[in-house]
Amino acid sequence: MAKIVGLAGSLRRESFNTKLLRAATELVPAGTSIEVATIEGIPLYNEDVEAEQGFPAPVTKLKEQIVAADGLLLVTPEYNNSVPGVFKNAIDWLSRPAKDIPRVFGDKPVTIIGATPGPGGTRLSQAAWLPILRLLGTRLWSGKQLYVASAGQAFDAEGKLTDEKVKKVLTDLLSGFAKFVDQSSR
Ligand SMILES: Cc1cc2nc3c(=O)[nH]c(=O)nc-3n(C[C@H](O)[C@H](O)[C@H](O)COP(=O)(O)O)c2cc1C
Repeated sequence: MAKIVGLAGSLRRESFNTKLLRAATELVPAGTSIEVATIEGIPLYNEDVEAEQGFPAPVTKLKEQIVAADGLLLVTPEYNNSVPGVFKNAIDWLSRPAKDIPRVFGDKPVTIIGATPGPGGTRLSQAAWLPILRLLGTRLWSGKQLYVASAGQAFDAEGKLTDEKVKKVLTDLLSGFAKFVDQSSR
């Protein structure tokens, strides 16, 4: 069975992006699974810490989850028209040491989705990820796009995705990405 690691870029308990990731685990097609990973516990990147103390346990854990997965699903919030610092910080840790980048990210099938209460649906944040993912040598899949705007209306009080249009796009997107992951891992 193909395995995708899903990573939401928010630490907020009620994060719309974490809720969107949870919805994705339920809508992914049979034959593919999504393992929910976390950026929780990853400290601010500091090269002194890396040199003197090595890699924090949450970084090593996340890195090995990505290495073991066939694909990576990034679920990104948008801060100030770009990638949130906490999310970028996690990827910065994962990109160290630089010689490890091909093992972790090289040719890794990746796709991006995101949610915001705002009107733009994280378009700018998703676009801001592109040069980062390119630098890391990932294999970006852009067959479908999902920009969840007005996220407050897309989930119910229990955090379940209830917006039927979003569910349909997410289901189709996951189906396309799963096929891409499957082809890439052969
Ligand atoms: C510092 C900051 C900047 C933000 N900038 C944007 C933005 O540029 N575009 C946007 O759509 N939402 C922006 N927001 C609102 C976030 O989309 C909102 O807080 C969202 O709930 C964050 O994602 P989460 O629910 O997964 O934590 C910003 C929020 C914060 C705290």
